[in-house]
Parts: sequence; C-alpha cells; structure tokens
Amino acid sequence: MFKFIKEFIKNPNFIGSVVPSSESLAKKMVEGINFQECNCIIEYGAGTGVFTQKLIARKKESTLLLVFESNKIFCEDLLNMYGHKENVKIINDGAENARKYLSLYNINQVDYIVSGLPFTVLPVSISSDILMNTKDILKDNGEFITFQYSLVKKRFFESYFNSIKSKKVIMNLPPAYVLICK
Ligand SMILES: C[S@@+](CC[C@H](N)C(=O)[O-])C[C@H]1O[C@@H](n2cnc3c(N)ncnc32)[C@H](O)[C@@H]1O
Repeated sequence: MFKFIKEFIKNPNFIGSVVPSSESLAKKMVEGINFQECNCIIEYGAGTGVFTQKLIARKKESTLLLVFESNKIFCEDLLNMYGHKENVKIINDGAENARKYLSLYNINQVDYIVSGLPFTVLPVSISSDILMNTKDILKDNGEFITFQYSLVKKRFFESYFNSIKSKKVIMNLPPAYVLICK
C-alpha cells in the first residue's frame, strides 16, 4: 500500500489512483471470464497485482497471461511474485505496445483484455492507441474489461466498442464501475 501511494505521488497521471483496487472490485473484474475456454488473456496496468493474482488463480495452466505494467518498481515486484508461474509473462512496457508481443508469443488474437489503466488521466493519444489496438487484437467474441471511477469516459469507449455493460462496485475506494466492452 505504502509503495503504491509513493508511486502515485511520483507519477499521478500514470498511476491514476492513490490506493490499489479492492478485493471486491478484483472479483467483479474477473467473474465473467470463461476461464475454461480461453487461450490468451492480457492485463494492462497491473500495479501491485490485485487483478493479476485473481487471473493466475483461476486460469488454466495452458492459458497464456501477458501482463503489461509500465512502472518499473511495480513490474519488479510482479516479476518476483508471479514471474515463475507457468505461462505468465510480466512485461515492463506500455499497453500501447501490446501488439508487438503477440507475434513474439505466437498469438494472433486474444480472448480477454483486463485493464486497470487510468483512462481518465492518461493522454488521449495514448488512450486512443491502446483502444484501437485492443479492438484489433481481441477475438470477435472477445471482451475488454475495464474499471472507471465514473462514467464520463463511457462515450469514449463507445466509439471503439459496439456493446458496453456496466456494473457498480460499492465496496471500493472510491466506488467504481466495471465496464465490459465487446
Ligand atoms: C489505477 S492503477 C491500477 C493498478 C491495479 N490494476 C489496481 O487496480 O489496483 C494503474 C496502473 O496502470 C499503470 N499504467 C499506466 N499507464 C500504463 C500504460 N500505458 N501501459 C501499462 N501500464 C500503465 C500504472 O503504472 C499503474 O500501475
């Protein structure tokens, strides 16, 4: 927790939140994933790994999980915690570069992308790059699952996805919305 606050003070525009997401939010983020039927999941902006931990606990060993985290300090911790797990790749790079790692791991398209990125504070050009790539690398029936503290960016997501469902999670500081985009 202390490390998260310290990194937020250093980089508020890239961390986007003072504290990590709650257990309740993490559960809601992954509850709709069909873990039995997926070959590849990507996570954007893992931070201290609250969603990563849930994804690793539920995924099949053969499912490849690519975790993108641009902050070096968080990435080192994620590597120590999960770097040894089967088919889990911790990548210290921006989500906007995800596409180039797919060919590296022989993957064409992915089933789910779970995002902790702070879209409300990220530069619009980076958000647009990420969403454009996300749309391209997701399978037709794939899902982009993200959370937001308000619905102000919903319109922005709607310009990339045909259908968006939202669920409110009260047990988080602050309360958040999980958006499931197809
Ligand atoms: C709001 S925190 C969420 C962390 C964690 N998923 C959670 O919910 O507690 C956002 C994270 O996204 C990371 N981040 C910001 N921009 C990024 C980018 N372009 N690519 C990958 N990670 C990024 C930040 O370093 C930070 O760890």
